[in-house]
Amino acid sequence: MKKQKIKYICSTCGYESLRWIGKCPDCNSWNSFNEELIETSKKQNFTSHQTYSLKKISDISTEKEVRLKTGIHEFDRVLGGGLVLGSVVLIGGDPGIGKSTLVLQASANIKSKVLYVSGEESAQQIKMRADRLKVKSDTLLLLPETNLQTIFGAIKTENPQVVVIDSIQTMNNEQLENSSGSVTQIRECTSLLLEDAKKNNYSVIIVGHVTKEGVIAGPKVLEHIVDTVIQFEGETNHTYRILRAQKNRFGSTNEIGIFEMHENGLTEVKNPSELFLGERDKNISGSVVTASIEGTRPILIEVQALVTPSNFGNPQRVTTGFDYRRLSILLAVLEKRGNYRLSSANVFLNIAGGVKLIEPAVDLAICCAVVSSLLNQTADNSTIVIGEVGLGGEVRRVGMIDKRIIEAEKLGFRRIIMPKNNHKGIKHSSSISLFPVENLLEAIPLVLR
Ligand SMILES: Nc1ncnc2c1ncn2[C@@H]1O[C@H](COP(=O)(O)OP(=O)(O)OP(=O)(O)O)[C@@H](O)[C@H]1O
Ligand SMILES: [Mg+2]
Ligand SMILES: [Zn+2]
Repeated sequence: MKKQKIKYICSTCGYESLRWIGKCPDCNSWNSFNEELIETSKKQNFTSHQTYSLKKISDISTEKEVRLKTGIHEFDRVLGGGLVLGSVVLIGGDPGIGKSTLVLQASANIKSKVLYVSGEESAQQIKMRADRLKVKSDTLLLLPETNLQTIFGAIKTENPQVVVIDSIQTMNNEQLENSSGSVTQIRECTSLLLEDAKKNNYSVIIVGHVTKEGVIAGPKVLEHIVDTVIQFEGETNHTYRILRAQKNRFGSTNEIGIFEMHENGLTEVKNPSELFLGERDKNISGSVVTASIEGTRPILIEVQALVTPSNFGNPQRVTTGFDYRRLSILLAVLEKRGNYRLSSANVFLNIAGGVKLIEPAVDLAICCAVVSSLLNQTADNSTIVIGEVGLGGEVRRVGMIDKRIIEAEKLGFRRIIMPKNNHKGIKHSSSISLFPVENLLEAIPLVLR
């Protein structure tokens, strides 16, 4: 007989509690706890005669891992070279960002049998989208369904190589009494899909909505279950979208994929630097271009700073796309080493295009942008600034300098301010001049006009 108990589960991180609490002790979310039924009888399935199979690691043959190409290069790259058979990929993103569009375009592109399960739209609605996106495929099967048991039935009969679940929040395992979208349902459905995918060697793409806090709904818990977690980001009022791996058991998490959203679907952006520099106003102060490496690819990005006097004792620092603490450190270095009065100024920093910059190689460009705005002097618009800045104001070497230089040349930049330690043995054409610097203070006059 099933015994039932009620528990409270944090909808953000999956933390469980026997009583309702207002603030999650694990992830600090407020009002995130929902009542859920827990079946206790399930826990008693330990028996002494379970079968198991042991293998010596040396006896296991490693065939080359099979990857299914989605044919969308940006997507394949973020996956680490395509979908791995037997793996589960979770794609999260804000409502309306284009998750269904992406998975439908990918599904139609895949050369093997794909089962597209939609719990949100009817077959007609999906067909209408497919017509709008002009995708055609003879190997794509649609299943509007939310019942997990029915879905497993279809998987068994049809034997697809890829199963798409759009979205996990609508799926329902009838053996549980919890409602669809509850943490227990989401977690249980995902685990069952993973288990079946591993056993029968097909790939699963799960679409998940993102909660207002920006986590894939339900769950951080889901992130542990699945093999790969991919975020689909972008602002709804901009046309570009960025795919970013947050976790990948089968590839790097550094790669990003860049798309533009049009009426007829997502197109890949082959040259992101052009896109990100497209809206640059070359004649305003506070704007500096740097070359950042995203994954294995260099991207030129505009860094914008706005420095204003602060009338009250509490100056503001606001960043988008850059670490707030890192900015504070750079401001302190500028103040201490260069005597720039920033502790009494508001500093706003924006990385154009909604990109997030994490590598320290962009430090020098950020410092130059801040000084450019502080002094109200524009930076030279054909100059790229590269270098990590240390606490002493020294400019430190960065990785992959050659790739950055080539990208800058390709887009017609003529000068590069770069770390002296990177200078030796560099091959470059004569169309671009290199200015090696040792120190932050040496770089600033070379950048400002
Ligand atoms: N007729 C259209 N013309 C142009 N763009 C459209 C059209 N229909 C939809 N779009 C674009 O597609 C986006 C919705 O894409 P999609 O349905 O793939 O998003 P989603 O992330 O799956 O959304 P949801 O969270 O509702 O499932 C819209 O925000 C819009 O930008
Ligand atoms: Mg959708
Ligand atoms: Zn929590």
